[in-house]
Amino acid sequence: MKRRDVLRTGAAAALSTVLLGACVAERPTQSRSIDPGSAVIGISMPTKALERWNRDGAHLVEALQALGYETTLQYADNKTDQQISQIQNMVTSAVDILVIAPIDGTVLAPVVQSAKERGIPVIAYDRLIEGAEGVDYYVSFDNFRVGELQGQFLVEQLGLESEAGPFAIELFGGSPDDPNAAGFFGGAWSVLSPYFEDGTLVSPSGKVPADASGWQQIGILGWESAKAQSEMQTRLNSFYSDGTTLNAVLSPNDSLALGIEQALDARGFEPGKNWPLVTGQDADKANVINMLAEKQSMTVWKDTRDLGDRAATMVDQIAKGQDVEITEGAEFDNGVTAVPTFMLDPLVVTADAVPELLVDSGFYTAADLGL
Ligand code: BGC
Repeated sequence: MKRRDVLRTGAAAALSTVLLGACVAERPTQSRSIDPGSAVIGISMPTKALERWNRDGAHLVEALQALGYETTLQYADNKTDQQISQIQNMVTSAVDILVIAPIDGTVLAPVVQSAKERGIPVIAYDRLIEGAEGVDYYVSFDNFRVGELQGQFLVEQLGLESEAGPFAIELFGGSPDDPNAAGFFGGAWSVLSPYFEDGTLVSPSGKVPADASGWQQIGILGWESAKAQSEMQTRLNSFYSDGTTLNAVLSPNDSLALGIEQALDARGFEPGKNWPLVTGQDADKANVINMLAEKQSMTVWKDTRDLGDRAATMVDQIAKGQDVEITEGAEFDNGVTAVPTFMLDPLVVTADAVPELLVDSGFYTAADLGL
């Protein structure tokens, strides 16, 4: 059993310690009685525009239907107002349990409160819902660990322990309204900051926060590839057009990595020659294809099937009034309540491991990836 400290996923969200791998049972949620045979589960997802949420939604529906539940799934086009009104409609139409992946973790308190008043249990999916009392459970991957894995990958690949440097790196943060993004940057920064302090790492653009809490300054709103591409283009034009070497880019996820890679392509960087290391997360299809083409060095894979299966198990345990399994010691303080959490472990995937990890496991077919 591995014990380690895990940091906060958002400003208000704090988790002290996690014992990953160990599960404990949590008392059943107090709710109105649910008939598992006819229960309807409301699922609210952020957007169809980013690949992973399509996979999440589809798998969650499949997992819940396999357990005999009816589902209603809605995507909110990355618009918080739309997400609030979709959830409110689900509450009014009396769904039995809600599973919500918030766009902005901080604005759902009123609608979650109205779910609570009607005795509808709420599970926060992947992203924590902050400042709301009625959040019963949270299921996610260890966000801090995601960033740590990205940082450690860069340290190893650049050889920062043995090489003197300086190495040029450009840092990107996730969407400023996403509580997970703080965890990703916090994890990466915990690994990389000592190398900035001793001068082994430098950022020619100067876009480096004073500490981990300043990550929003380099955040890309809405996790949009096009915005990351234009930011990368600006940095390349302003700081690298004189031939300055770029060794690495810390990208917190694949949608940003895709935009960054498009900017590198457009600027004439060549894989295998002067292409920098680029990190990512999610194992999105386009990014895995880029990994095989040496345009992306790694991705942190969070198997959305495991997340969906775990959320479905939580739903089932709540509906049947059973103890709900959570990770021992994992409780996120969302500002008003400590939310019992089930945490999954993310995994690094590099190009050579794609066939074994992503194809043999059935996440993609070989044909999907052009293999
Ligand atoms: C998720 C990431 C994803 C990002 C953009 C985050 O909250 O945890 O897996 O890349 O949102 O969709």
